[in-house]
Amino acid sequence: MKDLLKKLTETYGPSGNEEEIRRVIEEEMHEYVDEIDIDVMGNLIAYKKGNGQGKKVMLSAHMDQIGLIVTHIDDNGFLRFSNVGGISVLNTINGRVIFKNGIMGTVSYEEEIENIKDIKLNRMYIDIGASDREEATEKVSIGDVAVYYSPLAESNGRYIGGAMDNRAGCALLIKTIKELKDCKNDAYFVFTVQEEVGLRGAKTSAYAINPDVGIAVDVTSTGDTPKARTMAVKLGAGPAIKVKDGSVICHPKVKDLMIDRAEDIDIPYQIEVLEWGGTDAGAIHLTREGIPSGAVSIPCRYVHSANEMVDEKDLENGVKLLVKILENEIEL
Ligand code: CO
Ligand code: ZN
Repeated sequence: MKDLLKKLTETYGPSGNEEEIRRVIEEEMHEYVDEIDIDVMGNLIAYKKGNGQGKKVMLSAHMDQIGLIVTHIDDNGFLRFSNVGGISVLNTINGRVIFKNGIMGTVSYEEEIENIKDIKLNRMYIDIGASDREEATEKVSIGDVAVYYSPLAESNGRYIGGAMDNRAGCALLIKTIKELKDCKNDAYFVFTVQEEVGLRGAKTSAYAINPDVGIAVDVTSTGDTPKARTMAVKLGAGPAIKVKDGSVICHPKVKDLMIDRAEDIDIPYQIEVLEWGGTDAGAIHLTREGIPSGAVSIPCRYVHSANEMVDEKDLENGVKLLVKILENEIEL
């Protein structure tokens, strides 16, 4: 798991620029599936055939990550930027970012701002070490997107890195693809684009696949750090079965099925109510006439920072849960 997670979290792929991460994911799992397709939006769809009697299941993990998009380059070579997805001031100040071409920079803010609360993204900038506009434009253009620079680290059975949201989910799908033996159901593993800017890739891919059931795999927040927002999810207490977030109320039968399968294999699991946020299930369940959908979430601390933290056992148990779901009959 560690090598895979390292490869996935360190590969560039902000929303709208998923080519590299898509290539890495395809390379990892293409030998294990029956068909692979890349659609107009850039979603990577891997199909694994069932035994002909099961349901059509769409499993979706978004492969895009949040980023900083260059909006302006000043005379001194400093880059102004806007957000692609949930980039916050606090998570970005004086951090390091990297562009697709490997150019690195420090993100800082106008020093005259006295109160930290007055710092907004439009009063921040990226310093790529250029001495003027000309030098800067040789390396970076308006519209280029940087992501947090964050090599993977391990500490006490936990992984710390950037883009755990949602490369951890991508890792779960890849492992599931590899470990599936007797797949009862027709499984479409979709590595979606542009989730972080509004669940866009899931929308078109769910329409095309038209599944009987949708399962999103993504990270979720936890409530287990000092004075955290109240939330029942803890790191290391098992994959979370989603009841609700800001984008979806999960279909009760899908949620119950997940609970049953988790109990069948006797893994720890927890129930997730996320009072904000969203995931691909939000788009899938509203497709066509409606598609019963749910989500398996990986507990993750410090979501949308450069140092998101997940627990190895949660990942392993998440894979077991997905495999068990796919290898058994799905009754809805
Ligand atoms: Co996110
Ligand atoms: Zn996510």
